[in-house]
Amino acid sequence: MDPLMPPPVRRIALDREPHIAPPATSPNGAGSGAVVPSEAHRRLTRPDPATVRERMRIESVWLAYGENWVVRDVTLPVRKGEVLALIGASGSGKTTLLRSLNRLTEITAGAARAGRITLEGEEIHELEVNDLRRRVSMVFQQPNPFPMSIYDNVAYALAEQRPPRGRRRRRTAELEQAAQEALRRAGLYDEIAADLDRSALKLSGGQQQRLCIARALAAEPEVLLLDEPCSALDPISTATIEELIVRLRESVAIVIVTHNLQQAFRVADHVAFMHLGELIEYGPSEQVFDRPSQQRTRDYISGAFG
Ligand SMILES: Nc1ncnc2c1ncn2[C@@H]1O[C@H](COP(=O)(O)OP(=O)(O)OP(=O)(O)O)[C@@H](O)[C@H]1O
Ligand SMILES: [Mg+2]
Repeated sequence: MDPLMPPPVRRIALDREPHIAPPATSPNGAGSGAVVPSEAHRRLTRPDPATVRERMRIESVWLAYGENWVVRDVTLPVRKGEVLALIGASGSGKTTLLRSLNRLTEITAGAARAGRITLEGEEIHELEVNDLRRRVSMVFQQPNPFPMSIYDNVAYALAEQRPPRGRRRRRTAELEQAAQEALRRAGLYDEIAADLDRSALKLSGGQQQRLCIARALAAEPEVLLLDEPCSALDPISTATIEELIVRLRESVAIVIVTHNLQQAFRVADHVAFMHLGELIEYGPSEQVFDRPSQQRTRDYISGAFG
C-alpha cells in the first residue's frame, strides 16, 4: 500500500436507524430527565474559603452599543480563590460584560457604560489602560498565539511588563526563568521543554490555548478573563484546561464565559446566569445548578442540559 495514501475507509452497513440513548441522569439529581453523564459533571474541588478575597466589583453596570443597552444593571463580585462562570443564551451580554472588565469594550465605536467597575477599590477608568490590561488579562475563544517561537510568545509578554532599555531584548537567565515559570503554571512546560524555539503555530489547539494562558499569566495578572476558552478544543485538552483553571484559582481571580454547562458545573464556584442583558441569578454553583431560585434559570439549565 502507498504509505502516503490515507488508510481505506471501512463503511459499516446499517440495517436499521441508529439507536439514540435516552437521557442518563439529571444535573441536579432531581430526575428531571436532563442528559448529563454522571462523570461529566463530577465537581472539581472547592476552594478554601479563607483564601477567597474580592479583587473586582461590578456595580450597577449598564453597557450599550449605540442606543442598545445589552447589559442592564449588573452587580457582581470577582474574587481571587474562586472561579466565576457567566452563563446564558447567545446574545445575553456575557462577552460584552467580560470585555468591559479590562476596558476592551471601549474599543468598539459607540460603546457606552454606566455604573462602576473597580479593581482593588479603584475605578478602572481612572487606571492607566495598559496597566489595567496587564492586571486584568484576557484569553479568547480561538487560541491566538503570535507567529513567533513558543518561548518568544511568553517572553514578549514578560518584556512588555519590564521593557528593555534601548537595546534589543536579550534572552537573559532571568527572562528565561520567568518564561519557564509561566509555561509551568499553564501546565505546558513539560510537553514543550525541548521545543521552546519551535513556532507556536505548530502546537496543537489545546497546547496553543495553554500557551495563550501562559502568555496571559506572564504579566502576573490579578484577574484572568476567559471567553469560552475550550470551545475550539477536544475533550482531553478541555479537561487539561479545566484542571488548570481550578489550580490557578488560588492565585488569580478567574471569570469564565462558557456555553458548556457541564464545564461550569465542574469548574465554577459561583455562577451568574444572564438573560437578555440582565443578571437573573447569581449564587454558589451548587445552589444555581441544584436549586435555582428563578424559573428562567431552571428553564435554561434543564434546556441546555437536556
Ligand atoms: N460590536 C458590537 N456592536 C453592536 N452590537 C453588538 C456588538 N457586539 C455585540 N453586540 C450585541 O450585544 C448583545 C450582547 O452580545 P454579546 O456578544 O455580549 O453576547 P454573548 O452573551 O457573549 O453571546 P454569545 O454566547 O453568542 O457569545 C447582542 O445583542 C449582540 O448582538
Ligand atoms: Mg460571547
